[in-house]
Amino acid sequence: MLTLAAATREGWVAEALASLDDVLIDHAHCEKKAAGGALKLLFSYPQHGFLQAPLSRLAREELAHFEEVLRWLQQRGISFGRQRPSAYGGRLHAHVRPREPQRLLDLLLIHALIEARSCERFGLLADAVPDETLAGRFRGLLAAEARHHSVYIGLGRRLVPEEALQERLTALAEREAEALAAPAPDVRLHS
Ligand SMILES: [Fe+2]
Ligand SMILES: [Fe+2]
Repeated sequence: MLTLAAATREGWVAEALASLDDVLIDHAHCEKKAAGGALKLLFSYPQHGFLQAPLSRLAREELAHFEEVLRWLQQRGISFGRQRPSAYGGRLHAHVRPREPQRLLDLLLIHALIEARSCERFGLLADAVPDETLAGRFRGLLAAEARHHSVYIGLGRRLVPEEALQERLTALAEREAEALAAPAPDVRLHS
């Protein structure tokens, strides 16, 4: 079950289709960032045994997604390279509380929300892209990102009781919707 506070605004899909090459390049960057985010948690929290194997597996899956999206780019004749990132991730991470275990809980829930948003966006793109092959590819990734969402929520449950988790998740979901609604100069997977 995804936990987003607001659905994607009207108009994003049309903008994404009009800048599909840019969105696909961003998508590749996002998969790489998702792997990096999981690895960063492994490096920051070696003392938490319960994080290690699930996040290692998740990071490998994200790197496999990265390689997959690189192949899509290659097949479409799009070159991968540096791109101005959206401010979304930075805006979300500004809400991470400094003390433990709140810090780790916030990081896990923010990762969960990013996965949920990716999942929602892949679904929108799958329904809208005229290219059936690409639509199928988005649908293929959607299930994995939904599972990643659940992995992060499950890890959060190891830290605090359910009620506290739900309360923080609801608050951060509101911040996520705000981060997404803020004006952005470019169309991105999270803009
Ligand atoms: Fe992914
Ligand atoms: Fe993911």
